Amino acid sequence: MSPTAPQALRWDELVGAPIQQLPTPTVIIDLPTLRRNVAQMAAYADSLGVTLRPHWKTSKCAQVGALQLEAGAVGLTAATAGEVEALAAAGFTDVFWAYPPVGAARVATALWAAARTRLIVGVDSLASAEPLAEAAAAAGTPIEIRLEVDTGLGRTGVDPRRAVEVAQALVALPGVRLEGVFTHEGHVQGVGADPARRLATGVAAGELLVEVAEAIRADGMPLTSVSVGSTAGARSAPTVTGVTEARPGTYVYGDENQVAIGTVAPEDTAVTVLSRVISVERGDPALIDAGIKAMSADGSMHGDGRIGTVVSDGGGVVATGHEEHGFLRGATGLRVGDLVRIRPNHACGLSNMHSHVVAVEDGVVVDIWPVLGRH
Ligand SMILES: Cc1ncc(COP(=O)(O)O)c(C=O)c1O
Repeated sequence: MSPTAPQALRWDELVGAPIQQLPTPTVIIDLPTLRRNVAQMAAYADSLGVTLRPHWKTSKCAQVGALQLEAGAVGLTAATAGEVEALAAAGFTDVFWAYPPVGAARVATALWAAARTRLIVGVDSLASAEPLAEAAAAAGTPIEIRLEVDTGLGRTGVDPRRAVEVAQALVALPGVRLEGVFTHEGHVQGVGADPARRLATGVAAGELLVEVAEAIRADGMPLTSVSVGSTAGARSAPTVTGVTEARPGTYVYGDENQVAIGTVAPEDTAVTVLSRVISVERGDPALIDAGIKAMSADGSMHGDGRIGTVVSDGGGVVATGHEEHGFLRGATGLRVGDLVRIRPNHACGLSNMHSHVVAVEDGVVVDIWPVLGRH
């Protein structure tokens, strides 16, 4: 009798197999589409004269980060301590941790990572920077920081009117060096499908950030980076003169939230979830094996709240889910055992639900990529 359970065996044995042999639910990454997305964004950033530092939280795969760097990215952006540690451990040498280092555990991660890689840490207040500064000064490891500015999303980020004052307090701290300013213009996604309004919103965010950077410089504090970042704003915010860096993340996979507003074309979505029909006893909905633990429960921002859109024959939408059950509505002709491929609403939330993704070319598995730093 085999000592290894079948599910544990499969990952090793899948390379070379057609996707029909994959266990489900499984995240599939179409490699040619991924490569195209990576190349196009790199060429676009290059054409604007801004550096590219993709947000790695979308994939959390070392292989995807490596492709982005090969195409010309200067480094990667991370959100969680797990991502920072995974990137530093995997040998990535330039990481921007775009999240306030609040709490002793995050400070410890920052110091550990800064000893292994160039690390820049995002802060939005004196209070969020002080513990890091104290620890870095005590360890004799100076750490670069960037000041986050709220340009309209209304999340973290200093109010632009207080940015100079906070920058003054930050430069007075020992142990840290103010390297730049950044914003996440995520509110461009909220504007929706009107390209003119998206353009105006993204440009306004970029202009506000540049204005803040100029005010800080005029006060005698030199800054290197003026960094914007989002997929919905990728064609607007970085076009503003004075912006030096772009940090889009979702573009690398694409997802339904981007497709719904036209910022990613359906054919540029590299990620799908492969799922099997497990029951048609209800008729419509058919039940599939991708529920919220496979898709994430992050419903569509710009539609009917669906958690996924079927892109394979038969169509339909994953209207809702239980943990391991997806409710597929509006599909035709499905039988138990049939495979369906689903475009998820939110690629970043999806990646974090899985321990591996499967890289595929022409319907054949070419590699298995571990998802790193999930928590
Ligand atoms: C700080 C920061 N930068 C960049 C990004 C990338 O944005 P997107 O996923 O829209 O490409 C995000 C996404 O949430 C973010 O939080």
